[in-house]
Amino acid sequence: MIDAARRSTPLRQSAKPNIMNDQSLPPYAGPSRVFSGVQPSGALHLGNYLGALVKFVALQDQMECLFCVVDLHAITAWQDPALLVAQTREIAAAYVAAGVDPQKAIIFPQSAVREHAELAWILNCVARLGWLDRMTQFKEKTGKHKERASVGLYTYPVLQAADILLYKATHVPVGEDQKQHLELTRDIAAKFNHDFTAPGFFPLTEPLIEGPGARIMSLRDGLAKMSKSDPSDQSRINLTDDADAIAGKIRRAKTDPLPLPETLEELKIRPEADNLVGLFAALAGQSRGQVLQNFGGRGFGEFKPALADLMVACLAPVTQNMRRLIADPGEIDRILVDGADRARAIAAPILAETRKIVGFWPGR
Ligand code: TYM
Repeated sequence: MIDAARRSTPLRQSAKPNIMNDQSLPPYAGPSRVFSGVQPSGALHLGNYLGALVKFVALQDQMECLFCVVDLHAITAWQDPALLVAQTREIAAAYVAAGVDPQKAIIFPQSAVREHAELAWILNCVARLGWLDRMTQFKEKTGKHKERASVGLYTYPVLQAADILLYKATHVPVGEDQKQHLELTRDIAAKFNHDFTAPGFFPLTEPLIEGPGARIMSLRDGLAKMSKSDPSDQSRINLTDDADAIAGKIRRAKTDPLPLPETLEELKIRPEADNLVGLFAALAGQSRGQVLQNFGGRGFGEFKPALADLMVACLAPVTQNMRRLIADPGEIDRILVDGADRARAIAAPILAETRKIVGFWPGR
């Protein structure tokens, strides 16, 4: 399939070929499909819920959806083997508790579909070191100690690209922190299609990031992302928090002394207020502007209890469902087994075609 001239060009060694603008290549023409994943590396928080899970529920009626528990990604940082299975079941339970219907969407553990690891290796040989060197999440996670990080953490975004391209997913709902990884996925797909003269084989996946839940910030610092790894539990709302814990965390959430502003321009320069208004908007299914129409000019003494009530009303059913599901691991395991079978049925022929394109021995 690869012509001799192309094989002898130095293209495959280049930092980044100019292939994204090649209008002469036919675009991907396959079906629309959604893929996303969450790491089983600790309790889920409100950022995961609003940035990802809420979007999963909305998409399951629009397209074929695969929602993965990415345990291969989780072990790029140390995970206690005794806890990993329980954490994997917990994420699956959270998907279902949030409203993902396992009859419609495919819910499965990444490690149960071995094809992820094989495609990741192939794509490791397509992605360039220079591309990975630019990944800001790796820099943020490792700081000054990158020599102590696992090699897996470095190539983490390539595994993420493999997750997506293994199903030729066209749409990926995620929070804003994943934007750079999805740009990399598009670059890898484009370079694969180009290098192997397989135009349109992999789609150039669209990220689905928009909305007020795309970037939920810490309750203690409006400039830092809400995150599992923040040492302060007060910085985040966990999906396992009860009504009292939620009300307490919102009451103590950092704010400034002014009343809520009337305009979006004023809101933009007040990070903590912006975060709380964004939270209200995401939970109520409104825009920030609509929230300001109701609460602009009012003090946090009035706004915070309204936000806490709304949060409890939204999260309590999810938390309750999650507890019920976690108490019955048999039900979750049935969902995961069925999901893994359905996922593999999509992945296997795509990997087989990829292997053929790459030129692997076809005997097995
Ligand atoms: P993870 O497990 O860190 O987060 C899961 C999802 O939650 C979103 N998220 C947030 N959204 C808004 N505000 C926040 N503060 C916040 N924190 C987290 C994340 O953007 C994500 O959507 N690399 C991914 C997992 C992954 C993946 C994939 C995602 C692996 N393969 C393929 C999509 C497609 C991650 O670390 O997610």
